Amino acid sequence: MSATTTALEFPLTASSATVASARRAEILESPGFGRYFTDHMARAVWTSGEGWHDAGVVPYGPLQLDPAAAVLHYAQEIFEGLKAYRHDDGSVWSFRPEANAARFARSAQRLALPELPQEAFLASIAALVRADEAWVPSGGESSLYLRPFMVATESFLGVRPAREVTYLAIASPAGSYFPGGLKPVSIWLSENYTRAALGGTGSAKCGGNYAASLSAQDEASAHGCDQVCFLDSTERRWVEELGGMNLFFVHDDGSILTPELTGTILEGITRSSILQLAADRGHQVTERRVSVDEWREGVASGRITEVFACGTAAVVTPVGRLVSSDGELVHGTGEPGEVTTSIRSALLDLQYGRAEDPHGWMTRLV
Ligand code: PLP
Ligand code: COI
Repeated sequence: MSATTTALEFPLTASSATVASARRAEILESPGFGRYFTDHMARAVWTSGEGWHDAGVVPYGPLQLDPAAAVLHYAQEIFEGLKAYRHDDGSVWSFRPEANAARFARSAQRLALPELPQEAFLASIAALVRADEAWVPSGGESSLYLRPFMVATESFLGVRPAREVTYLAIASPAGSYFPGGLKPVSIWLSENYTRAALGGTGSAKCGGNYAASLSAQDEASAHGCDQVCFLDSTERRWVEELGGMNLFFVHDDGSILTPELTGTILEGITRSSILQLAADRGHQVTERRVSVDEWREGVASGRITEVFACGTAAVVTPVGRLVSSDGELVHGTGEPGEVTTSIRSALLDLQYGRAEDPHGWMTRLV
């Protein structure tokens, strides 16, 4: 499905019930992740007859949704995640937003939702951040996490692509995704559940993938782990990704390796940026299938020296332990590794405007 309108604008209807500035300041001091939301949200509506229309930035608030709305029954939904970063001079920037817009369009195709034109996606983000600029934290590694999403709002219980769809973008001040900050996380190897199968929706960013990961995440928590790692659904031996992050392995010669994209893994924007940044720094980078045996043997032999997870929310997070029914594998000393730390800093320096941007990845919003 293609959109019928390309020049959507997002005029502001200002909220008359904004959060008091003292309360906002308190929230920005320690925002956590995904707990607090700003004063406004971006919105646009699509119908099969009219295409995209009714776009704007409106006061943040509950939605009126018919109980028969298709999304509530058949999960026709997609989302994105990106951040707005405040630089030292006060300006606010986003990182590769056009890559999120492109992935959103690919997800829309897979979920039989209408494509939101890339310019409209970018305009919605820019308009929302302009309206809620005061919510962009400064200092440390804080940011304003942006969550664009699209849901099937048509009231109809027949199973077919909805003819009425709503696009929304909300914003949430964010600190570290993991409460421990840079402390290495532990991951549980899911042998009972898989996340995605070939031909399925693994490479789309749709809510259903995350719903399907929650039992495995529960299993991880029951084993004292922070995240779950999924294997391929056919042979149950190839490492895919975590519930909400991609995975990298660092070798003793400084080369880095990440599972290749097979159609079942989400193509992370952080993942592709790290492949480029690491190559820029002279690391050999490889994308290929990685088996869980290679992981175990690599750690045992000392060939694999560091493992890290990456994603917009998690940035670059060291993985300290892999736990499975076979026992536990400990990476390195339990402290963040040298390569992990340097790649993490390179990425953050770029996002926070402390380093040159040779690839033109930053877009100024305010
Ligand atoms: N894999 C999954 C399943 C995710 O949810 C995410 C987070 O968005 C990622 C990988 C990393 O993607 P990105 O770097 O684009 O945030
Ligand atoms: C993100 O990193 O943006 C995600 O969507 C992952 C989610 C676990 C918060």
